[in-house]
Amino acid sequence: MLDNQSVFGQFATLISDLYQRYELPFYLFDLDALDKRTEWVRANVPARMHLYYSAKANPNLHLIRRIAVNFDGIEVASLGEIAAAVLAGVAPERLVFVGPMKTKQDIAAAARIGVRRIVVESINQIQWIKMLGLTEFKLVLRVNPDVKVGSSSIKMGGQPTQFGIDRSALTTIYKDLRTAPEMRLSGYHIYAGTQIENTEVTLAIIQEMREIYDETPDDLRTNIDFLDFGGGFSFPVDSSPTHYPVETLRGVVDAALADFPEHVMLAFELGRFVVAPTGVFCTRVETLKHSKGRDFAICDGGMNAFSGFSTQSRFKRQNFPCLHIPARRTDGHHIAEFCGDVVGPLCTPADMLASGLALPNLSEGDILAFGNCGAYGLTHAMPLFLSHEAPMEIGISNDFAEPAILRNSTQVVDSLVAQGADLAAVAEVLR
Ligand SMILES: Cc1ncc(COP(=O)(O)O)c(C=O)c1O
Repeated sequence: MLDNQSVFGQFATLISDLYQRYELPFYLFDLDALDKRTEWVRANVPARMHLYYSAKANPNLHLIRRIAVNFDGIEVASLGEIAAAVLAGVAPERLVFVGPMKTKQDIAAAARIGVRRIVVESINQIQWIKMLGLTEFKLVLRVNPDVKVGSSSIKMGGQPTQFGIDRSALTTIYKDLRTAPEMRLSGYHIYAGTQIENTEVTLAIIQEMREIYDETPDDLRTNIDFLDFGGGFSFPVDSSPTHYPVETLRGVVDAALADFPEHVMLAFELGRFVVAPTGVFCTRVETLKHSKGRDFAICDGGMNAFSGFSTQSRFKRQNFPCLHIPARRTDGHHIAEFCGDVVGPLCTPADMLASGLALPNLSEGDILAFGNCGAYGLTHAMPLFLSHEAPMEIGISNDFAEPAILRNSTQVVDSLVAQGADLAAVAEVLR
């Protein structure tokens, strides 16, 4: 197990140096820590399990490329994510294409690109594949299971939901599939929810999958070679010991897995658990103020850059671990005993980075670095709201002599140009 679940602590000097070269806010990814983490996850999950990385957690090409070294494939949920994975060098046969909304065009493009496993989430997705004659696809049915994840998790199954096909509707699907023998049912997919904290829920998912597999009519079951149990392993924002105990998974699930025939590929798809602890979000304190008895630090990045800070998208209010890096020079305001709220730049009280934080000797110009921000970062945020520039993503690793830019930030210009503004005129206004 990794000793230090959060990697940000070692980086104070580096972050200060980077700030001399790049505009804040930015993300910093420790790519060596990411490699170690994927190796560690690989070593801990049962040997039989195939591992897919869920690109939605962070679709940056550079992260996908590194994760794909230790994982079997990438779970993608849009044409954009397919493109990211393919451009990262992952062969299309190593992708599994999920998602509650796929247009006919998405489905046709995925087939053309060479994606073979498609997770169908609604009856019309099956009908479109049939209509388009895409017999090269191996169909995987996403089932809305009966199993419920714990109360502290975000549920995406076991209740009415837009995801997957109800278990009770499978008989109708089987009838439909029999009318088109060229269509190949190759497996099932269950994703019950995210932030699952215990292995017993995973065991319950595996057991329900076993029931679904056993209930499949014989003529269809012979083709089944892929069962995807989802994942949703938790990684709490504050690195508390309630992260998913992957080290104990084998003992809990090995016997249940041994029940599946050997030719059937078994898989987990993991996002947050892989990347969350490898990313640090760095922002600058622009303004300190005191209002009606409470201290406020207003920063240059908040939920426009990282949605995990917002109260709406968080089901549990916890502060991310925060490293205070004093400015090298400052002539701004100073609060000796700051204790209050760290907020972002948006015009909404929801834009809260941390609540009730004690930060002794806080000055305007200081940097705050928040750990465990590697998952559901920029691409899960609302970067266009208020039209601030989006943060860059910067990677460090021993392979790089220098920190490398993993994603540049040009969205303000891009957005204005996309609205028809002249590039030179935009450059003149923003210079
Ligand atoms: C179908 C599916 N697979 C995988 C994931 C990744 O979940 P997590 O980041 O919790 O591992 C999600 C997240 O919403 C999902 O919807």
